[in-house]
Order: sequence, then C-alpha cells, then structure tokens
Amino acid sequence: MTKIAVAKGDGIGPEIMDAVLNIFNAAHVPIEYQFVDMGKWVFDKGYSNGMTPEAQQAIESLGILFKGPMETPKGKGVKSVNVTARKTWNTYANKRVFQTLHGVDTVFSKAGIPIDITIVRENIEDTYGGVEHMLTHDVALSRRFITRPGSEQVIRYAFEMAKKKSTKRITCGHKANIMKITDGLFLDVFYEVAKEYPELKADDVIVDDLCMKLVTRPDLFDVVVLTNLQGDIVSDLCAGLVGGLGFAPSANIGDHICIFEAVHGTAPDIAGKNIANPTALLLSGIGMLRHLGLMQIAAIIENALLYTLEQGIHTGDFGDKAITALNTTEYAAAIIGNFGKSPEIGAKPMLPDMPTTQTHFTLEKNSMMESTEVGIEKIVGVDFFIESNEQPITIANKCMRHAGVKFKLINISNRGTQVWPTGSVFTNLVNQYNVRFESIDDFPLNQQDVLGLYVSMSGNFKICSSELLLMWGDKKAYSLAQGQ
Ligand code: NAI
Repeated sequence: MTKIAVAKGDGIGPEIMDAVLNIFNAAHVPIEYQFVDMGKWVFDKGYSNGMTPEAQQAIESLGILFKGPMETPKGKGVKSVNVTARKTWNTYANKRVFQTLHGVDTVFSKAGIPIDITIVRENIEDTYGGVEHMLTHDVALSRRFITRPGSEQVIRYAFEMAKKKSTKRITCGHKANIMKITDGLFLDVFYEVAKEYPELKADDVIVDDLCMKLVTRPDLFDVVVLTNLQGDIVSDLCAGLVGGLGFAPSANIGDHICIFEAVHGTAPDIAGKNIANPTALLLSGIGMLRHLGLMQIAAIIENALLYTLEQGIHTGDFGDKAITALNTTEYAAAIIGNFGKSPEIGAKPMLPDMPTTQTHFTLEKNSMMESTEVGIEKIVGVDFFIESNEQPITIANKCMRHAGVKFKLINISNRGTQVWPTGSVFTNLVNQYNVRFESIDDFPLNQQDVLGLYVSMSGNFKICSSELLLMWGDKKAYSLAQGQ
C-alpha cells in the first residue's frame, strides 16, 4: 500500500486534517499514513527548521507530504517552515486550481460566469529566498532571484499540465516592463518553451492588468504561470473569485517530493473551536489522490463533496445564512453520508485508476541545474552601493578622484533614480547611493581592477555592497538607472 507522510500543522490544522482523514478512512482510501512532527510547536522545541530529523527523513524517503497549515511569526524570528519545506525539497511548481463550486455563491456564479483557472506559481525563487540585509540604518535590501533553469522547470511543468488537460490558453503574468532583467528572463523563457507547444495559445499579460482582467472576465483565463510573489498574490485573488480561501487547494510539485496543502493559513482566530472549513484541505487531498493515480476514489469523494455543497450544507464561513452552519466534524460526516451521490452540475467522471507516480529513491548529491552559456562574458564596470548623506555633486567629486586610469564615473543614482550627472533637486534622497563606474574605452577589466577601485573607494565611503557590470556578447547584463 502507498505510504505518505502527514503533518497536521498548527492552529486549525489538526481539526481540518482529522476531518479529511476521517473522510479518507470512510472511503477506504488505500493509503498508509506516517505522522511526522512539523510546525511552530516543533520550532518551539528547539528544531530550527521546524521539523524533526525523523520527519525530514520520512518525507524524503516517502516522497509525498500531506500537510495542514503551519504558523510563521511575522517580522523577526524563525523562517516559515512552509517555505523552507518547499525550497529544501525543490517543489518548484505551486499549482492552485480555482473552480466554480455549485452551492458556493459568488458574484460570478450568480452572474452565470463559470471559472476554471489554474495558477502555476514559481515556488522557490524570487524574494522568497529571504536574502535581506539592512545596508544602512535607513535602507533595507532584498535580493530577488529569478534563474533560467528555475524558470524553465516551472514553465515547462505549466505547459505539460496545460497540454494534458487540453487547455486552450496559457498566460504568463509578469512585470517585465519594469523589472526588465528578472521578469524579462522569466518572460523570455516562457516564450522559448512555448515554441515546443504550438497547439497551445501562449500569451502574456502585465500583472496589474492581469488582476483587473481576472476580476472582470475570469472566464477568459485558463492556465496562468507567474513568478513567486506575484503568483502568491494573484492566487489569493483567484481564491476570492470562487468563494474565498476555504476553497483554495494547492499542490507543490517537485521531481522527487510533492507537498499537498490548503492555500489558507492556521486561522488562529477560530482555532480549537471545531468550526473551520476543511474543504480546501479536502480538495488538496483529492488532488493528491489523483497524483497517486487513485482516480476512482478521488471522484467518489469529490462528487460527494460537490453534492454536499449543492445541497446548501456549509460551515460558518460561507453559504446561506438561513441554513444552520455545521461544525467541522458534522460537515465531514455529511460528506461521508453522501458517498455514492453526484452533483447535478459539474460531476467528476470516474476515470480508470492509473499506476502510481510515486517513486522511492535516494539521491547521492545535489543536482546542479545549469543552462548552456551564451556569448562571451566580459566585465565592463562595477556598481558600488555606498552609504552617504552628502549631496550628489560632492559624492561625484570624491568618486572621480578614485577612478584612476581604467575607470570613469558614469552616473550616481539614489533608489534607482539618476541624480548625477543630471537629475532633479525634487528627487528626495536616502543615505545610500549607487555609484556606477565603467571601463574607459571598453578597456578589458578583471576582478583585480575592481578590487583595486573598491579598496580606493573604501578610503572615502562605507561600501555596503557591490555588483560587477557584465556583458554577454553585446548584451548588457545590468539595468540602467531611471533617467540614465
Ligand atoms: P489565514 O488564512 O490563517 O486566515 C485568514 C482569514 O481566513 C481568517 O479570518 C481565518 O479565520 C479565515 N480562514 C482561513 N482558513 C479558514 C478555514 N479553513 N475555515 C474558515 N475560515 C478560515 O491567514 P493569516 O491570518 O494571514 O495567517 C495565519 C498564520 O498562518 C500565519 O502564521 C501565517 O504565516 C500562516 N500561514 C500558513 C500557510 C501554510 O501553512 N501554507 C499559508 C498562509 C498562512
């Protein structure tokens, strides 16, 4: 029998997980569960990544984790165990399916506009690397990683999934008009992969426009793939379109390990009251059953759920207020009581079971994902991020004294806006500047040249960080300042 790891989580986690496992047991789902210790309470016991070594070992050998929500303290303190799990095990694609559920009234269901949107969110990179520093007492910096191999993994997954479900349209949401290098890379990879899927209509929409279009014409979208943070926000927006977080399932897909969980969090405001809605976790569990090839039992449970919703049965967070809300346990029992029934609208077909996709494996070493390099790399300059509360002209005069024979001072910017050699006195400043030096007459530079300049500049300034300015062939691998 297939064995999976289960972590009940924090807050409402244990209540909704018990409800879902009761439904699974009543349906005789042929899965064995190994309960593992993960969550805030495990942090509190002194395990810094929020899981015991035994939990990590079990998940890595079983390959499937079914988890309840886990608490992350805001601001300072421990890192999110949810994000740690997704990143550590390279679950690069976060798939969230948002469908109209008959019985869950929304403005769109009332207007007869059907919704069936799958958001595929990149799950590892972006600002979720959490690599952040205070550069001065006023300036915080977050590094945003968008990589070619990472983008390709998630985008390829999205295209494969779209192809399997005979999707017509696949859309890339992005902000490449502003973040030309990071989101630009994601968008380039999207269209590179799209060439391999000519049967799918691939297009792109800028993320703010995407949000507007999703709330006005959600029926126009099918599969949407986005970077991590934008995907996080857009998928919560889509949860709102179909009735709220209580109906938003999610699957974190990797090549070796997959994690199934609800989109919502631990709902501390209602924890311990047995009133939470277990639907999102149940839908995530049904997705997991299909992932494991258990198509028939998944359809039986989903049809019972849809039938129950169609009957107007609900927990306190949704549904017709004229019908008494059930608590979590009663709601699960109602679904169990409806096994064998199907909804009038949107019944799921009984597809044949498929051989399990679960594989047991061991890995000897971390895999390096590297694409083939394009163009010859050359160092053409350096950006120094310096702390200073002086005026741009004063800084420029000091910097020019350090430029020597190999470098020339190109420009100075503050928060990305050029303030020297040209700029405006109306640009407000903070106590950190980006000072850009480039080589004179395309003189070839090496790292020692840059270090020499670094040492010289450090006589005058605190250098908070620095970045090499690179070119590949004739392509600049760095952005220009606003106004440059
Ligand atoms: P939340 O999703 O826990 O709650 C937001 C609102 O939705 C609350 O009013 C809550 O009562 C309600 N809600 C959520 N799930 C519900 C359900 N199943 N049934 C009925 N009502 C429900 O978001 P919040 O408050 O921002 O986060 C609380 C904690 O959860 C934080 O520590 C956060 O880091 C964590 N979290 C964990 C996630 C995970 O484990 N994947 C995802 C999101 C948040």
